[in-house]
Amino acid sequence: MKRYSRITGTGSYLPPRRLTNADLVTQLAAAGVETSDEWIVERTGIRARHFADDGVFSSDLALEAAKNALQAAGRSAKDVDLIIVATSTPDMVFPSTACILQNKLGANGGAAFDVQAVCSGFVYALTVADAMIQTGAAKCALVVGAEIFSRILDFKDRTTCVLFGDGAGAVVLEASDKPGILASDLHADGKHVGILCVPGHVSGGAILGDPLLKMDGQAVFKLAVGLLESAARATLAKANLTDADIDWLVPHQANIRIMQSTARKLKLSMDKVVVTVGEHGNTSAASIPLALDTAVRAGQVKTGETLLLEGVGGGFTWGALLLIL
Ligand code: ACO
Repeated sequence: MKRYSRITGTGSYLPPRRLTNADLVTQLAAAGVETSDEWIVERTGIRARHFADDGVFSSDLALEAAKNALQAAGRSAKDVDLIIVATSTPDMVFPSTACILQNKLGANGGAAFDVQAVCSGFVYALTVADAMIQTGAAKCALVVGAEIFSRILDFKDRTTCVLFGDGAGAVVLEASDKPGILASDLHADGKHVGILCVPGHVSGGAILGDPLLKMDGQAVFKLAVGLLESAARATLAKANLTDADIDWLVPHQANIRIMQSTARKLKLSMDKVVVTVGEHGNTSAASIPLALDTAVRAGQVKTGETLLLEGVGGGFTWGALLLIL
């Protein structure tokens, strides 16, 4: 009998400090940076984001999201034999945020590692966990996206600092004889490294180069829409399904206009698209599991429905994943 992997629980966590656009506009104005609620809403759909306080790390956000997901799955930390954390804002250079999370959770002993594919990280991580479950390398995985992007934002650059937020989302993925994850399609093209990056690095006890996020927004936008469509189509083809089989699109929450363009290309109406960017901003690798958990807990997305997840981000990386919830 074929061995599949299925999501058995979802969870998420947002740090309590919420900043509306108005809060951010006031804060930025004090530093001489001019923006407005109207500009942010019109160009991105973002109305608010959450920022973690000093001393809180990605593993702390991941821990709360993971606990919620385990509770939803009816599992305990002892059941977990694999932890994959997708993050570009790890607690430290090493060890991985997954190892730190594993210890905070009390799930010690199984495999634990991070995946670094920026905003595509969760789709990458879920694909890896699915493969490990299918081969029998794992039985019960925690797949987490956790980010504190507020620490790598340049609050003097209005073209980027208004876009991002902090948060975490998690799923429990378990071996099953019934289909859950049906197919995925991952890609990267390293020639686009420069359009979205944090170019600094640590050397000899100092940070060399710029440690803050740089983005050519228009270049990202143009690439993103076409790549997301091709990954979605390739994933559907692998599963012998079509656009019409999708109950819900759960896209990376970067920008409402990218989501609208992708939905149009896939002939999906926006009421089949899970949208949380308005309240969360772009939380990079956390955005898809945060959106998924929000939709599940709201009763919007239900067990047995077919979901297409898709992400795009720095690298350039992109990918899609089709599953039955
Ligand atoms: N407030 C007010 N004005 C602003 C702001 C701001 N926060 N930011 C830029 N502007 C101004 C610009 O200076 C420019 O002014 P000018 O015409 O006088 O020069 C004007 O607004 C238009 O700027 P554009 O860059 O052309 O604006 P655009 O419509 O392209 O929107 C945006 C910018 C929102 C970044 C858009 O390009 C975008 O969404 N790109 C994709 C970004 C994205 O999704 N990134 C994440 C994907 S990967 C990941 O998640 C890591």
